[in-house]
Amino acid sequence: MPNGADRLRRIAELARSVSSTLDLEVEQTRPRWETEAQSHGISYQVRIDGGPLPPISGVAEELHEAFLNLLVNALEAMPNGGRLLFYLERQGDRVTVAAQDDGHGMSEQTRERIFAPFFTTKRPERTGLGLSVAWGIVIRHGGTIDVESALGRGSTFTVRLPVSKEAPSEQQPAVASAPKRGARVLVIEDEPDVSDVLKEILAAEGYVVIEARDGAEGLARCEAEPVDLVLSDLTMPGMSGWDVAAACRDRFPTVPVGLMTGWGDQVDPEELAQHRVRFVLTKPFVADNVLRAVASAL
Ligand SMILES: Nc1ncnc2c1ncn2[C@@H]1O[C@H](COP(=O)(O)OP(=O)(O)OP(=O)(O)O)[C@@H](O)[C@H]1O
Ligand SMILES: [Mg+2]
Repeated sequence: MPNGADRLRRIAELARSVSSTLDLEVEQTRPRWETEAQSHGISYQVRIDGGPLPPISGVAEELHEAFLNLLVNALEAMPNGGRLLFYLERQGDRVTVAAQDDGHGMSEQTRERIFAPFFTTKRPERTGLGLSVAWGIVIRHGGTIDVESALGRGSTFTVRLPVSKEAPSEQQPAVASAPKRGARVLVIEDEPDVSDVLKEILAAEGYVVIEARDGAEGLARCEAEPVDLVLSDLTMPGMSGWDVAAACRDRFPTVPVGLMTGWGDQVDPEELAQHRVRFVLTKPFVADNVLRAVASAL
């Protein structure tokens, strides 16, 4: 279970400027958009302009993931090269990051659906989760994310986040996304096979897995013993994953909840935010995704 010091460290790490997160993003992806692209005769310009920005409060790892999804999408929208500009600005008690690309843009019809989980216009094997994940992260940080786009005229994604009210603490060490060994994860899943797979993935990283076959049993376990995270199936006989999430939100508000969905299940981002669902995992599971989602929610 994350103790107080752990939480403080996380808050401190995030209380850095957004620009350092973006710098990291641009540097980490440079081999892809510079070296690799050049080898195909394609040239990209990726630039950060504006700022400086005051620090914001948030989980650095999550913000990193949100911005990375915007960056990757922008590159993918410019298959023949182009320019991506991150423009940083302070507007009152908010910081604004606008990611402007000059890629293929999107139609109004597409624009209306891009934040929905599983929506993709790319190859069928893509998950279509990038923007719904980014959206969830930004909303949880008290921010907003908007998009302006037109077919053939590029897109601009604008993220607004509240400025931190706490003083930043640069001395605090950064937090890695290491598994929190010994953390107790309650898996609520009616299919024993699915539950077994999760148990194997999580136990191998040192998590203690508690299994329940339905929502009622799961909530009873939460009452009876300490639980650090709940991972619930969405579609189950009896209580649904939404019912479980709502009950946890009301009765165990500090326990993060993740949902598991089958392929093709439509999950409304607003419903996720209302139920304070921290992440969604799609079956069949990719072990890395499960571990990353669980570690960053703890
Ligand atoms: N910068 C952009 N320019 C044009 N279209 C975009 C841009 N960003 C996102 N989109 C559209 O939004 C859709 C959803 O994006 P999202 O990141 O959620 O999924 P994806 O990129 O298709 O797949 P994944 O991110 O899971 O690999 C994309 O398929 C694309 O149609
Ligand atoms: Mg994407």
